[in-house]
Amino acid sequence: MKVLAILYEGGKAAQEEPRLLGTVENKLGLKEYLEKAGHELIVSASKEGADSDFQKHLPDAEILITTPFHPGYLTADLFEKAKNLKLCVTAGVGSDHIDLDAAVKHDVQVRPMSIGVLEVSGSNVVSVAEHVIMTILLLVRNFVPAHEMIERGDWQVSDIARAAFDLEGKVVGTIGCGRIGYRVLQRLAPFDCKELLYYDYAPLPAEAASKINARCVQDLKEFVSQCDVVTVNCPLHKDTKGLVDAELLKHFKKGAWLINTARGAICDKDAVAAALKSGQLSGYGGDVWNVQPAPKDHVLRTAKNPLGAGNAMVPHYSGTTLDAQKRYADGVKSIIDNYMSGKQQEAQNIIVGGKIGYATKAYGQRK
Ligand code: NAI
Repeated sequence: MKVLAILYEGGKAAQEEPRLLGTVENKLGLKEYLEKAGHELIVSASKEGADSDFQKHLPDAEILITTPFHPGYLTADLFEKAKNLKLCVTAGVGSDHIDLDAAVKHDVQVRPMSIGVLEVSGSNVVSVAEHVIMTILLLVRNFVPAHEMIERGDWQVSDIARAAFDLEGKVVGTIGCGRIGYRVLQRLAPFDCKELLYYDYAPLPAEAASKINARCVQDLKEFVSQCDVVTVNCPLHKDTKGLVDAELLKHFKKGAWLINTARGAICDKDAVAAALKSGQLSGYGGDVWNVQPAPKDHVLRTAKNPLGAGNAMVPHYSGTTLDAQKRYADGVKSIIDNYMSGKQQEAQNIIVGGKIGYATKAYGQRK
């Protein structure tokens, strides 16, 4: 059996730090395990174009492992070429880089054997929730320009304090209140925010909502108009692509902060940059980009508010802390183990599979 893994290049860091498991060098810790069982493991970061290792090895791979941190885009066209593919495993959470509708089509209609798309649900949700809390604080307290001022050798407190606020008393809302969104709100509870809101077609169980005192707002425009801080925590699918666009941004409170650690394409990058420039947004932060790696001249690398601040963007790493890598590497191994031994997969990890099509409601309502 051929297993193909498209992971990110870890370079010197991965040679020095074996806990960087999700890298080409450290292979999710799968090399010995698979080779001992007589399987072939191909690991590469080369993922774009017909000459990439991804496209070269895809036709005879039985298992494909990809990661949101360096997404190998499995398009509908590539599904046609992946004649031997049975199992797609996302090392992490978020399988939007796989054309899930195409997976469903191949699963149900085309192949005698089903193709499953699975991810390691929950593996890095705490890692992301912590990053969201950090980014909210960085933006609301105007931290980044304050630190840059110190490195420059300057000292002008008023230039920073004029745009620094407390989180206490603010209204914070999450678009998507699943594993990450809920954990973000949970972690905000001790900050004594004025209110915690969420927008999601799947309502929280009453007990979970009352535990953190969260209120659901069902209309998105109304929701954003009530928030000082909006954090995006829903998957990318056809209804969330470009969800935060120029039109929705008009409904934000003037000077709100927007944090996106979900997927870059959920927020229209040019609309966000324009909203920052005009001061409609005071800040934008997160770690996800509409294309990864983000090109050097990507507008969100340098977009700023009228005070020359308000940018807390970083490369996609919130869900790939060393703790998270251990959890998703273990999870990938266990999914492959189940596949090889014919054991039932954990229901929470199945996105598409087993001739049932979509096994989760998180990637759109599909009424
Ligand atoms: P989850 O499946 O537990 O929760 C997703 C929630 O979003 C669900 O409650 C669902 O109903 C809701 N949702 C879906 N479509 C929506 C829409 N149109 N409007 C409002 N809500 C909607 O997923 P989890 O674990 O919370 O992860 C969410 C996303 O975060 C992932 O799909 C992934 O894209 C991203 N993520 C990012 C990471 C990073 O390193 N930056 C790491 C892990 C996940």
